[in-house]
Amino acid sequence: MSDATEHTPQTSPDAITPENVEAAVTGALAAIAAAADTGALRAARSAHTAEGAPLALLNAQLRNVPNDQKAALGKLVGQARGRVNQALAAREQELAAAETAAALAAEAVDITALPQRARVGARHPLTLLQDQVGDLFVGMGWEVAEGPELEHEWYNFDALNLDADHPARQMQDTFYVDPVASHLLMRTQTSPVQMRSMLTRELPIYIVSPGRVYRTDEFDATHLPVFSQFEGLVVDKGITMAHLRGTLDHVARQLFGADAKTRIRANYFPFTEPSAEFDLWHPTFKGGARWIEWGGCGMVNPNVLRAAGIDPDVYSGFAFGMGIERTLMFRSDVKDMRDMAEGDVRFSEQFGMVV
Ligand code: DAH
Repeated sequence: MSDATEHTPQTSPDAITPENVEAAVTGALAAIAAAADTGALRAARSAHTAEGAPLALLNAQLRNVPNDQKAALGKLVGQARGRVNQALAAREQELAAAETAAALAAEAVDITALPQRARVGARHPLTLLQDQVGDLFVGMGWEVAEGPELEHEWYNFDALNLDADHPARQMQDTFYVDPVASHLLMRTQTSPVQMRSMLTRELPIYIVSPGRVYRTDEFDATHLPVFSQFEGLVVDKGITMAHLRGTLDHVARQLFGADAKTRIRANYFPFTEPSAEFDLWHPTFKGGARWIEWGGCGMVNPNVLRAAGIDPDVYSGFAFGMGIERTLMFRSDVKDMRDMAEGDVRFSEQFGMVV
């Protein structure tokens, strides 16, 4: 405590003295500082500045002071009110900011949180190629035909002109299904769809049949025990090898560009006569344009037409078949066929996110 305070004479609390003014200000500032929210601050404002408050009463007293003291006392009271108003304004800003911050924190949405959305996958390139092949034949007016993967031996071999002990049966290592007497097997080729189509469809027939086939092959870079083929079959009047050649060239151009073409080399298949293997001229092959073995083909063997009840003197046809994995390998430069079987989405994503 200072000496000045100690010796201050007692006066009425309404008198405008530096002590009374200071006491009113101190009380107001303490209430302002203690206000914990804008509601409490409003209460402090009316208690310390509104009518009846100590500062308001002192201000009202200015009317009664002698003229020669008016200026000095007016300044004293004015400055006191100024300090209180300033403190009110500052505290109000502080509390409002704190309240806004608290509201923002309470209502916050974390936009960095990972959404619970399922990851978009990619279609398998084999499926995409299979669809593309289907589309290109549908574009020529052909139909897509299907057959079962668990097939009867008759459709897979006998109907295709292979006797029980025909050596060609050994060309394709077959998964037979128990019991042997059921004569069921996992189809080794899509060719059984030929006979199924001839027995169920009206002539003429123009079909393409993509699907899975099974062989007891090793699982290595160029073989899979489960792979896919697509089979083409046409049966109509007046069909010749020229139609076969033209069709194969068209398919080659659709899949490998305008400069692609095919050539045939004599071969043997029991269900075609004559039979051929066909090669593709791949104009954009990685490492330079070249011929690549693509598939088998030929004119439908008259025995096969007969087995389907079709008169080979009236109708003739051609057929062809090729592997889809193999086609994808040299079309998209896939080095290892196993990548196509393993189902890793990162492999599919390289071919685009078509869903
Ligand atoms: N099915 C034969 C294979 O898997 C390919 C084939 C050859 C299909 C000649 C045909 C064809 O339609 O005419 O090796």
